[in-house]
Amino acid sequence: MYKKLFIPGPVPVHPDILAAMATPMIGHRTKEYAEMHERVTSGLQKILATEGKVFLATSSAFGVMEGAIRNLVGKRCANFCNGAFSDKWHNVTLRCGKQADAIRFDWGKPVTPEAVEQALSTGLYDSMTMIHNETSTGVMSPLPEIAEVMRKFPDVMFIVDTVSSMSALKIPVDELGIDSCIFGVQKAFALPPGLTIFTASDKALQRASTMEGRGYYFDFTEFAANDAKHNTPSTPCISQIFAMERQLERIFAEGLETRWARHRDMAEYTRQWLADRGFGLFPDREYCSLTLTCARNSRGVDLAGLKKGLAEIGFAFDDGYGKIKGETFRIAHMGDMTRHDLEELFSAIISIMPDLA
Ligand SMILES: Cc1ncc(COP(=O)(O)O)c(C=O)c1O
Repeated sequence: MYKKLFIPGPVPVHPDILAAMATPMIGHRTKEYAEMHERVTSGLQKILATEGKVFLATSSAFGVMEGAIRNLVGKRCANFCNGAFSDKWHNVTLRCGKQADAIRFDWGKPVTPEAVEQALSTGLYDSMTMIHNETSTGVMSPLPEIAEVMRKFPDVMFIVDTVSSMSALKIPVDELGIDSCIFGVQKAFALPPGLTIFTASDKALQRASTMEGRGYYFDFTEFAANDAKHNTPSTPCISQIFAMERQLERIFAEGLETRWARHRDMAEYTRQWLADRGFGLFPDREYCSLTLTCARNSRGVDLAGLKKGLAEIGFAFDDGYGKIKGETFRIAHMGDMTRHDLEELFSAIISIMPDLA
């Protein structure tokens, strides 16, 4: 049975997008593909507010997250870790055979500019990774303030995962000085998973060109060389690029400002609905994500039971991630979702647990 997704990715995909994915196939070494590739990457440049190159990779986000490590980490990497995905990125960095340190924050806390400054001032690092929106804990770290600190360390590669935030709020890649910004499309872009978008600054491409062992599939210099022909190093997920083209049209038709306001409104509405029922927020309010809310299970609800009950009536609900499963639960409000969708979920929750009315 189809369940309406309220998990933090993948999220529901609009029928127009599914229809775009059924477009008859074209060859990727054709003019037709190159023209579409160019339209898609220029649309993405507008959303990312970058004049730099935007690359399309056929993989989940972790493919490029690993690629960024192989291409950009030379001497040693500072992995800022404040949740499951950033912890995993540290582990991936080590698995790539790189020297790296995890700079840890308690789950539920953001990465702070002070900690970034302190770590990088040691002079040990030539690269750093951080996750803008830690999906496991619903924490959005203060990217502009961190970017301000990063200006003091121009030789340190600034590698940022915006997997669950890009397009839901303004993230101006050039203004923030991000060397490589990476995101999948199954979250705020509301596409099926399998396509990852990334940027590489001139500095990043220069560093990549000197790196041993960067492999082939995620070699940033291969992406740059192929991009000159509006193409990709190997066969791309063309159906998803059809879908992205359609989604970009939809995003621009809505307007970026309106899209950002809709995400903010849904986040505030969700937090209020939870607060009215006595549920606390897992992160401090000022660092709460705009794309998902991670709530404390302050009322000791049987979350596994609620998840099962919701599944039976057609809703996919998340009862917490990793070590905070059961103690927290997460509600996604991103992509094409509206307040109306959240109202539907909340009515469904009340139908199962009438005391939450
Ligand atoms: C913030 C963040 N980074 C990375 C990932 C991993 O993405 P993927 O499963 O597409 O490799 C996720 C997945 O949920 C995520 O939320």
